[in-house]
Amino acid sequence: MSDEGITGRKADHLRLAIDDDVEVPLGSDGAFSGLRLVHQALPELDLADVDPSVTFLGKRLAFPLMVGSMTGGTAEAGEINRRLAEACARVGVGMFLGSQRVMLERPETTETFRVRDVAPEIPLVANIGAVQLNFGVTARDIRGIVDAVGADGVVFHLNAAQEAVQPEGDTRFAGLADKLADAVAAVGVPAGVKEVGAGLSRAAVERLAAMPLAFLESAGRGGTSWTLIEGMRAPKASDRRLGALFADWGIPTATSLLACVRWGRGIPVIASGGLRHGLDGAKAVAAGASLTAMALPLLRAAARSVDDAEAELLAFRDAFVTAMFLTGARTVADLRRVPLWIDPALDPDAPERAARAR
Ligand code: FNR
Repeated sequence: MSDEGITGRKADHLRLAIDDDVEVPLGSDGAFSGLRLVHQALPELDLADVDPSVTFLGKRLAFPLMVGSMTGGTAEAGEINRRLAEACARVGVGMFLGSQRVMLERPETTETFRVRDVAPEIPLVANIGAVQLNFGVTARDIRGIVDAVGADGVVFHLNAAQEAVQPEGDTRFAGLADKLADAVAAVGVPAGVKEVGAGLSRAAVERLAAMPLAFLESAGRGGTSWTLIEGMRAPKASDRRLGALFADWGIPTATSLLACVRWGRGIPVIASGGLRHGLDGAKAVAAGASLTAMALPLLRAAARSVDDAEAELLAFRDAFVTAMFLTGARTVADLRRVPLWIDPALDPDAPERAARAR
C-alpha cells in the first residue's frame, strides 16, 4: 500500500471514531452488564482510606487505568497523542500508543508518537500489529520503534477481523503464533498481546500464555467495533455489507476477560472493550483483571481538549474509588477478592465446552 494509503486510512479512522456511531450496539448497561458487584452496607472502611493505586511495568499508577492504543501517524493524531499523554501525566495513569507500523515506512511520522516531553514518567507502551511479523517486520525493527519514543514496553495487536473486512487488509495470518512467540522472546522489552475488540478465546489465551508475556489485554466485543468502522469506510457496497454483517462479531468483553484470567497462567490481564467508566473498571478488577484500558471515550475527550481528557480520567477514578468503598475494598488487591455475580451465559467454559463436545 502507498504511504498516503496508511496515513489516509488513519485519518479516516480518527474522523469516523470521533464523529460517528462506531460501537457494537448493546443494552443501556453496556459491555459489563453481565457482571454485578455486591453492595456492602457495612464496608468497615473510611472512603478517605481507599487506595486505588497499582504498579505496572515497574511504575506507579494512581488507579488501574491505561489509555487504550489508538493513534499516531498524522498531524491531528500527533496532537491527540500529546493531549492524552499530558492528561495522563496530570492524573498519574499510563498510555498505549497507536500502531507504529507507519514509523517503519515513514520515519518522519515518529514525531506524532513522541510524548515523553509532556509525560516523562508515565508508563508508555508502543504498539504494532502482530501480523506485520508475516510481512518482514523483525523483533529488531520493533525494538527500534519502542526506543524511538521512549516506551517502557510494546503490545502486539491481533486484528484478524479488522484486516479481513478492510479492502486492503493484511490477511496472511498463517504461522503467526510461532513468529509472535519468537518476537516476544527476542524484543528485549516487556511485551504484551491484545485483541482490538473481538476478544480472546480459550484456545487463543492458552497459545498466548505459553509465551513470556508481561500482560494480556482482553479487548472483547462490547465497545468500538473495527469491523463496523472498516465497513463504513469501504468504497465498495459489497465491503460495506461485509463490515455491517460482522459489526458485532467476536467474544463478549466479560467472556474474553474471564478466559484471560482463567487460562492466562497468572499473566497480568488488562480488561478492555467497551469499558466506559470506573464502575466497569471495578467490575473488571473484581473479575480478576490487574488493570483496565479505555479507548474511544478518551479519544473523543482529547479531540476537545486536554482538560476534557483529564476530566474523563478523573471521573473514572471517582467512580472506581466509590465502587471500592461500597464493596469494602481498601486496596485493589482487596477488590480482586470481593464477591462478583457473573451472568452464566458469559462463562467462557460454556461455549467452549459445547464446541468441544461436538
Ligand atoms: C483503536 N484501537 C487500536 N488498537 C491497537 O492495538 N492499535 C491501534 O492502532 C488501534 N487504533 C485505534 C484507533 C481508534 C480511533 C480507536 C477508537 C481504537 C483499539 C483500542 O485499543 C481498543 O482495543 C478498542 O477500541 C476497544 O476499546 P474501546 O474503544 O471500546 O474502549
